[in-house]
Amino acid sequence: MARVFSGIQPTGDLHLGNLLGAITNWVRDLDHDEAIYCIVDSHAITIPKDPGELAERTLALASLLLACGLDPERCLLFVQSHVPQHAQLGWIMECTVSFGELSRMTQFKDKRERADFVSAGLFTYPALQAADILLYDTEKVPVGDDQKQHIELCRDAAERFNRRYGDTFVLPQHSIPTAGARVMDLQEPSNKMSKSAASPQGTVLVTDAPEAVLRKFKRAVTDSDGEVRYDPATKPGVTNLLSILGAATRTDPAALAERYSQYGPLKTDCAEAVIAVLEPIQARYAELRDDPAEVQRVLRVGAERAESQAATVLDRAQRAIGLLPR
Ligand code: TYM
Repeated sequence: MARVFSGIQPTGDLHLGNLLGAITNWVRDLDHDEAIYCIVDSHAITIPKDPGELAERTLALASLLLACGLDPERCLLFVQSHVPQHAQLGWIMECTVSFGELSRMTQFKDKRERADFVSAGLFTYPALQAADILLYDTEKVPVGDDQKQHIELCRDAAERFNRRYGDTFVLPQHSIPTAGARVMDLQEPSNKMSKSAASPQGTVLVTDAPEAVLRKFKRAVTDSDGEVRYDPATKPGVTNLLSILGAATRTDPAALAERYSQYGPLKTDCAEAVIAVLEPIQARYAELRDDPAEVQRVLRVGAERAESQAATVLDRAQRAIGLLPR
């Protein structure tokens, strides 16, 4: 049994990349691990958000995560800003990571180019992420491939802290799935699927109706040579479809390629497999959306339990550094 922690931002709707790259594994880990999952609203405000929308999106995301199968009896689910220790350890981690390390983060470089306003928080974001993870003595962090660099930085920071101040933090490892780690945009398969894609046709949302899912897969960009082959470098579109089908059906994507000689049937099978994954989630989501009080209760209980664990680790870190206890 490992201690697992992961987080997701309440920005935009949950998409197939979030689901196959992260959430499916969060749910799977419930069977054998002690799991804590966090909606990271403090991370979301590193890029200015509409205040009315942020709270609404946070609650909607919590409902959707529960609908995906995060059983609150078997894990903790909470909102980051409800547990003040995240901000407190976040500052300590800002003082532990270096300017140079933060400057090398590829997500910062990408987001900086697209942002109208580059906040200091956008730059120090990975320090807060490190605090999220370290506060729970986390051993395993299930994430998609794009978070690998942040988890490695967290581990380096924890090692540095332990070297300077004595053994304080558990060193975490990322856990990245073999299929679904990097779901690509259906219209621009050289870009990862994301909440902020240029065309909505390239992103499959967890809340998309079956007809919309089918339409998006049928229009997915492939190539003109007509051969079904798993080859990320020269056939990114076809490889992405094979990876999605593989992740949705828990089959090896390269082996799947041998079953197809044309793109049409691959696209249809892909859409059908994704619809089968989404349908039960959408049905549970519709029920939970009618009961926001219950979702808020789950988040309150999650925050209370998370806070008591986080307080212990924060206290350990503050003492190690030499801050005067109250
Ligand atoms: P976020 O909100 O961007 O994404 C949530 C999770 O979804 C995964 N993901 C993908 N996986 C495969 N293909 C894609 N196209 C794709 N897009 C997103 C992400 O890898 C992630 O696992 N910084 C984090 C949130 C965070 C966090 C943490 C994660 C804050 N603190 C502590 C782990 C531990 C983020 O912005 O994820």
